[in-house]
Amino acid sequence: MMTLTAMSLSLSLSLLGASPGAPDGKALFTSKRCTMCHSVVSEDIKAPADTKMTIVDLSGLSAKRKADWLKAYLEKKEKLDGKAHPARFKGDAAELEALSNWMATIKPAP
Ligand code: HEC
Repeated sequence: MMTLTAMSLSLSLSLLGASPGAPDGKALFTSKRCTMCHSVVSEDIKAPADTKMTIVDLSGLSAKRKADWLKAYLEKKEKLDGKAHPARFKGDAAELEALSNWMATIKPAP
């Protein structure tokens, strides 16, 4: 009985996209080194002070981008102002999904 309850609980959690093993989009943003070129001021994510790259703040993405577009853009299937994203995403499909879903929730900086 316990096992059945635990099973249905983990099943419903995974249907919600919140299974305990699902990748964490915000953590991926840092671990995939997106912070080499991006900050997210509204999420308190800063680019390293010693980077020589131009830093593009991604605050406010939720107002202009949907998760599907973000995913396609990182896969270089979509362009921004006629240009593909300069960095290739290195990771699996579940990570790309989690990262795109999280980015689609980024609020504007206060
Ligand atoms: C080598 C530098 C570099 C790296 C690394 C990088 N980006 Fe970018 N990114 C850019 C540039 C340049 C743009 C274009 C900005 C523009 O034209 O507005 C951009 C644009 C974006 C946009 C579109 C923003 C918008 O206004 O819609 C998203 C989303 C994005 N990057 C996410 C990521 C993610 C996620 C990662 C990590 C997997 C990443 N970037 C890594 C340089 C980089």
